[in-house]
Amino acid sequence: MVRSPPSVIIAPSLLAANFGRIENEARRVSRSGAEWLHLDIMDGHFVPNISFGPGMVKAVRTATDHFLDVHLMCSAPDILLKQFADSGADQLTIHVELNDLVEGLIWKIKSMGIKAGLAINPPTSLSLVRRYLDRIDTLLIMTVNPGFGGQPFIPETLTKIELARQWRGQTSGQRFRIQVDGGITTERAIECALSGADTFVSGTSLFGQHNLKAAVRKMRGSITRALQLSGNPTVDTAAGSV
Ligand code: DX5
Ligand code: ZN
Repeated sequence: MVRSPPSVIIAPSLLAANFGRIENEARRVSRSGAEWLHLDIMDGHFVPNISFGPGMVKAVRTATDHFLDVHLMCSAPDILLKQFADSGADQLTIHVELNDLVEGLIWKIKSMGIKAGLAINPPTSLSLVRRYLDRIDTLLIMTVNPGFGGQPFIPETLTKIELARQWRGQTSGQRFRIQVDGGITTERAIECALSGADTFVSGTSLFGQHNLKAAVRKMRGSITRALQLSGNPTVDTAAGSV
C-alpha cells in the first residue's frame, strides 16, 4: 500500500524565546517559514521546572494564526486540557509515563476537536506507546530528558525513531507524525530524519540565531537534501499538511 509522504515540519520552541516580549517572538516564528510553534508547559512536578500556563498560550494565539503545538509536561494534565484548548491550542501532547491516565486523556483531547500527541521520555520503553498509535496524531520522541532547553541530544533515542517508523509502515491506517524534541541542531535533525522523524522541535538552536528565518530555511534544506541523497522514498519537500 502506498501512503502519502509526510512533509517536513519545523516547530521552533518558545521556551528558548524572550518571555518578556512573547507576542513579538510568536510573530517572528510566523514569519520564519516554520509550520508549527511549540509551547512547553512544565508543572514543577512531572519535570523539575516551571514554564508558563494557558494565559501565555492565549497571548501567543492573539499574535499568530500558526498551528500551536502544546507539549504538556504535567502530572495531572486532565485539569488543564480544556483551558489549553480554549486558549487556542491546535494539538495537546501528553506523556505516556502517565500510564493508566493516557487512554482517557487522549479521548478527552480528541473529543475537544483538536489533535492529540503522545510523548515518551528517553528511558521509557517504546512498547508502552504501541497500543495508542492508531488514535494519535503525533508521537513525540523526547531526545533529551524533559525539563530544560539547551541540553545535549541523546543518540540512543535514534533506535526508537527507527522502530516507530517500522511500526507505522507495517500497520495500515496509522498516519501519526514522528516528532523529535530536545537538542535538535541541524546536524541532529538530519540524523533523526534519516531514522524516520518528520517533525522537528528546536529551541536553543533556532532562537540562538539572529535570523530565525534563515535558521529555519537551513534546517529544512539540510533535512530535505539528506533525505533525497539517501534515496528515502518518503520525502516530500513541500511544506505541508498539518
Ligand atoms: C525540553 C522541551 C523542549 C525544549 C527544547 O524539555 O520539551 O521542547 O524547548 O529545547 P532545545 O532545542 O533547546 O533542546
Ligand atoms: Zn517540548
